[in-house]
Amino acid sequence: MKKILFICLGNICRSPMAEFIMKDLVKKAGLEQEFVIDSRATSTEETGNPIHRGTMGIFKKYQIPCTGHRAQQMSRQDYDTYDYLIGMDQSNIRNMTRIAGGDPEKKIYKMLEFAGDGWKELKAGKRNLDKVPDVADPWYTGNFDDTWRDVTAGCEGLLKFLD
Ligand code: 4NP
Repeated sequence: MKKILFICLGNICRSPMAEFIMKDLVKKAGLEQEFVIDSRATSTEETGNPIHRGTMGIFKKYQIPCTGHRAQQMSRQDYDTYDYLIGMDQSNIRNMTRIAGGDPEKKIYKMLEFAGDGWKELKAGKRNLDKVPDVADPWYTGNFDDTWRDVTAGCEGLLKFLD
């Protein structure tokens, strides 16, 4: 069983987009039984709130199923439970590491590390987070298509990485 947790600041835009895109990819690959996939916030800003309408618009546009999500903050226990904790941007990574009390098991990743051929470098044990861009943040721009492009690239690479 591979346990994946996607994380952003509010858990209403980027990380739920990643959660349901990854669930869709995994289902289409016939691997649903092998994965646990969820998402969390680093903040309590949006706790209990549903997915942002911009992300819901992307799900509708690309026919990605989603059900029953409410924003929830990441806990220290999540670090023990999940195998891969994947943040959307550098600030998420910092806050995830703080919540987890460090990253002794090297489970914390940045979404676009997996994009393109990035997953191959990861497999080869090469990491340089400074070179990895952040997932486009729709919070200030309202542009959810750029976020979809980045999240999809990350999820597709992640699936190959885990193959
Ligand atoms: P998300 O977007 O982190 O992608 O869910 C945001 C949601 C809420 C806030 C910022 C970004 N906020 O400042 O409350």
